[in-house]
Amino acid sequence: MNNAVSGFSKLSKEDKINWIASTYFSYPEHAIATIKQYWNSDSKLQQLHDEFIENTITNFYLPMGVAPNFLVNEKYFSIPMVIEESSVVAAAAKSAKYWSSRGGFKASVLSSEKIGQVHFIYKGDVKKLEDFFQKIKPKFFEATESITKNMQKRGGGILDITLQNKTQELANYFQLHVTFETKDSMGANFINSCLEQLAKTLKAEAQVTSFFTEEEKNLQVVMSILSNYVPNCIVRAEVSCKVEELAEKNIENPQEFAEKFVQAVAIAEIEPYRAVTHNKGIMNGVDAVVLATGNDFRAVEAGVHAYASRNGKYSSLSHAKIENGIFTFWMEIPLALGTVGGLTSLHPLVKMALEILGKPSSHELMQLVAVTGLAQNFAALRSLTTTGIQEGHMKMHLNNILNQFQATKEERIAIAKYFENNTVSHASVVELIENLRK
Ligand code: MEV
Repeated sequence: MNNAVSGFSKLSKEDKINWIASTYFSYPEHAIATIKQYWNSDSKLQQLHDEFIENTITNFYLPMGVAPNFLVNEKYFSIPMVIEESSVVAAAAKSAKYWSSRGGFKASVLSSEKIGQVHFIYKGDVKKLEDFFQKIKPKFFEATESITKNMQKRGGGILDITLQNKTQELANYFQLHVTFETKDSMGANFINSCLEQLAKTLKAEAQVTSFFTEEEKNLQVVMSILSNYVPNCIVRAEVSCKVEELAEKNIENPQEFAEKFVQAVAIAEIEPYRAVTHNKGIMNGVDAVVLATGNDFRAVEAGVHAYASRNGKYSSLSHAKIENGIFTFWMEIPLALGTVGGLTSLHPLVKMALEILGKPSSHELMQLVAVTGLAQNFAALRSLTTTGIQEGHMKMHLNNILNQFQATKEERIAIAKYFENNTVSHASVVELIENLRK
């Protein structure tokens, strides 16, 4: 079958759906019904969602949950989380409750600088390029003034512009390396607009300068784009308490627990295979809040993992220690987040999520996101080093299977009893349901 199509984007929404349904499904009416089942009955709200992206045919639901009782810097928060994986919200809530009676989370923003680059090729005398750059540097600021004016009023703007010589790694390759402060916005549009203007100014000034020969004047701008690597936009989250205060159900020997926990983190610090999964657990929390608050989780993911490799080897983002009888668990991660602009004022549920969080500034949101990541990591390590991760997971899994089979109350009781002493697996649950129903 030839499934190629031309002019798809120009088709009406109905025609797009008809084409998809008739091209890919044996029963097109069923496909159309499923697609439309997820439309919102409020046509204005549906249109809003349709227009977020291109070629929209329907909405793809993800659950939004809330993890309450997060004590962060002495204040309680309920954290909205959007995620498809079971156990994550429960784990966050459990960690939050646990730490709320042990001093809560401490979080602080260490830096908030964003980065963008104009990548260009210059074939000529490097000294002349450096002199030219110094001479025209004020013009870069002047040329971007109309873009930066409003941001400056809010205390942000372009912090600095430097010329970077990268010719050791790639022939004739230079950069304008630009640092920004974007206050409460993530700043992607602002940064990219500034960079494209800087690129124009660079080219125009090169054309007319007396520094360069004709060949040197023809420097070539390859691209201008922000970097999602933000190692100077860092938030720190931490929990700590006396080792003996760690005691709880499943933590009967707190000293042993703390030592094993620190050991588990040490393994993730030196072993990349473990570090990736360890950090994935952190990102379970981070991404869920990033998504709920309408931020760009791909940007966050890319930046965080690059940061985890900053010393040349992929490593744990979090760290733990016991010192003078005090257990401390912390992490520092780069997070470029916004609480204004983008989806934040458009998506009704994003607005709601931000309201639940008390309309945070971008710095406050960075703290809340980091804290959720740390809570998630604590919950995972706590399970892994005590009962194992499957106990909790399989309970959830069992519930999902029972829902799938629309198990009755009586069936649920019988099944729960059986699995008190037996290991849950998909096959064993299905077999048991089938036996019960015979
Ligand atoms: C599962 O989504 C996350 C964990 O694998 C994280 C970890 O192993 O630390 C449980």
